[in-house]
Amino acid sequence: MQLAKLFGAEVTGVCSTANVELVKSLGADTVVDYTHEDFTERGTRYDVIFDAVAKIPKPNRNKALTAQGRYMSAHDNIGRETVEDLVFLKELAEAGQLKPVIDRTYSWEQIVEAHRYVDTGHKRGNVVITVSHTNKPDKALLWTVGSSPEKRKGFMKGSWT
Ligand SMILES: NC(=O)c1ccc[n+]([C@@H]2O[C@H](COP(=O)([O-])OP(=O)(O)OC[C@H]3O[C@@H](n4cnc5c(N)ncnc54)[C@H](OP(=O)(O)O)[C@@H]3O)[C@@H](O)[C@H]2O)c1
Repeated sequence: MQLAKLFGAEVTGVCSTANVELVKSLGADTVVDYTHEDFTERGTRYDVIFDAVAKIPKPNRNKALTAQGRYMSAHDNIGRETVEDLVFLKELAEAGQLKPVIDRTYSWEQIVEAHRYVDTGHKRGNVVITVSHTNKPDKALLWTVGSSPEKRKGFMKGSWT
């Protein structure tokens, strides 16, 4: 959402009541509370729908898109991040133009608790695991928390001995 605003889009954020103020503070021009209203029934057509949590039923997607509009979700394979992408994001964060939303921070010892919390499906933003630089797989852990339990299982199996 923050990137869309930076690129000049008019943005509607969809979230539950508890997150309305947060989403507004991140720059949404309009906020729709999904516990009260289905945004696809508003009659508004969007050029891009980014369904971060892949919750919009298939039949509802097209009726909220413009003729050339595009539906995207974090579940789709929408390309890999490049080093340039990450440097770009880092620079935006350093310039204060991108505000990371950190919900909770857990230590390595609390990794099980962290996964349990993420698995509730109601975290607000990101959950961070802090690991000391002497622990090898810190990059893997950051990727792992927040991905689906199925993906995690496969990943852990392949990478941990
Ligand atoms: N985080 C990662 O590193 C990562 C990496 C790759 C892929 N993914 C995938 O990306 C997707 C999103 O992951 P995530 O990390 O953002 O966390 P998530 O746990 O899937 O999403 C949690 C958030 O979704 C909101 N939400 C739930 N139902 C909603 C609805 N119908 N409409 C709008 N918001 C709704 C929740 O808000 P309420 O509590 O208010 O309902 C909560 O803020 C997942 O499918 C995940 O597998 C994540």
